[in-house]
Amino acid sequence: MKTILLIHGANLNMLGKRDAKHYGSLTLKELEKQVTAAAKKHGLTVKAFQSNYEGGIIDFLQMNAPKAAGILINPGAYTHYSYAIHDALLDTKLPAIEIHLSKVTEREDWRSKSVTAPACLAVYAGKKVESYVEAVGKLAEVIK
Ligand code: DQA
Repeated sequence: MKTILLIHGANLNMLGKRDAKHYGSLTLKELEKQVTAAAKKHGLTVKAFQSNYEGGIIDFLQMNAPKAAGILINPGAYTHYSYAIHDALLDTKLPAIEIHLSKVTEREDWRSKSVTAPACLAVYAGKKVESYVEAVGKLAEVIK
């Protein structure tokens, strides 16, 4: 079974307590359960990781990408300014998909810009957990 990395950035450990209007009411654990089940249907195993530290995400990518087939990443607010995560994604040479729970393009102006998306093959956003489920399907298609 191929493994995909599921990476959650800053503040996503607080899901369930964050603004449900934007992020839904699932906890991170519940979200991961749904993503793992969706991945299983496509014959994929998920290795999940969350960090509130930019360097933690980079270290995780560097350590785990060599044994993985693809990446799903919601960088949280790092999306909007982390060139370091952008570069780390590119360095993996793996297909990556960026995900957002909320409608990032319809909120504050600064959320419309993603500096990490150019290192990804697609962005799925605005459908809460469904964004992840759709992204799993797309990634499965790409790495099959
Ligand atoms: C988010 C959107 C970001 O702008 C925000 O900083 C987050 C979550 C989302 O999933 O909608 O923490 O990535």
